Amino acid sequence: MANNSKGTIGILTGGGDCPGLNPVIRAVVRRAGQLGYKVLGVKDGWRGMLKADAEPLTLDSVSGILPRGGTILGTSRTNPLKKEEDKKTLLANLKTMGIDYLIAVGGEDTLGVARQLVNDNVKIVGIPKTIDNDVDGTDQTFGFDTAVSIVTEAIDRLHTTAESHHRVMVVEVMGRHAGWIAIISGLAGGADCILIPEEPKTLEEICEVIKRRHARGKKFSIVVASEGFQLKGQDALVTKGQQLDQFGHVLLGGIGERLAKLIEKQTGFETRSTVLGHIQRGGSPTAFDRVLGTRYGLKAVDLIEEGKLGHMVCLKGNQITSIPLLEAMTKLKLVDQEWIRMAEIFYG
Ligand code: F6P
Repeated sequence: MANNSKGTIGILTGGGDCPGLNPVIRAVVRRAGQLGYKVLGVKDGWRGMLKADAEPLTLDSVSGILPRGGTILGTSRTNPLKKEEDKKTLLANLKTMGIDYLIAVGGEDTLGVARQLVNDNVKIVGIPKTIDNDVDGTDQTFGFDTAVSIVTEAIDRLHTTAESHHRVMVVEVMGRHAGWIAIISGLAGGADCILIPEEPKTLEEICEVIKRRHARGKKFSIVVASEGFQLKGQDALVTKGQQLDQFGHVLLGGIGERLAKLIEKQTGFETRSTVLGHIQRGGSPTAFDRVLGTRYGLKAVDLIEEGKLGHMVCLKGNQITSIPLLEAMTKLKLVDQEWIRMAEIFYG
């Protein structure tokens, strides 16, 4: 334990970046300093723990980062539990780096590692992050609100060009397993059909919605599709290759273009596709995500102060609270039927 302090808190950001990570880091440094802890910023997620790559974080180092997207610490999709020797290195490095407590900020993969480290008696606290909003145990992850704002604006823009050209526009958005971005931004942007991983549909069902709309005089349609959407009866996701990341995920992409071609062929309506890709994860966080990230960061340090380790901070209603990591990361939070039925009211 460092001299003249209650100990050192390490913080890392892992997995895909998202807007709101810097507000979390800033809040952790602020609250930790106030309570008498030092903070060490671990570089590039779990990779930094394996390489013992970190730097002290001070009020100066986090000054001005609140509105900045991305993460000043860097991130990676390194899985430190893939090999037994890596896990040993990680546990040894925690000691040599002088980290007494660790805050892991991430989604299903990063927090999945945190969850397993609880069993190794690592004094760890999790903070849920992902634009996908699929972490179970919290009502919302930060980054999601920003992504939804970006997609909604894109849908608004696609409306005007779709209308001018009398076209069907398919917009492909992120969402590997869960269609939260598609369904919420689709509702906000007035999409005519929303396609998500939770609810496979046939091409005929999709084209029926579009034809119904055109039959009542509309000459354009907007279809929002999650990258993880699958046509009913097709057992393969549309991917950009076969290579898997260290957590076993394949890189998705291409469903929008595939659907556009099929829809044009089936309906005879001219169709185009747009892929929003990493634009959804970039840039400045919304006010909501800045405040949610800030509240999560403050709460994580408070949990350490209270000795409530092995927990993940979470949002329940409007309250920031926490649940044990072992309870939080058992499954993904998927879009439920209530949302799907609500969105369907506006189809066609
Ligand atoms: O972090 C989640 C996510 O944005 C998914 O929605 C998407 O499938 C994936 O990351 C993209 O990964 P990468 O950043 O490695 O291209």
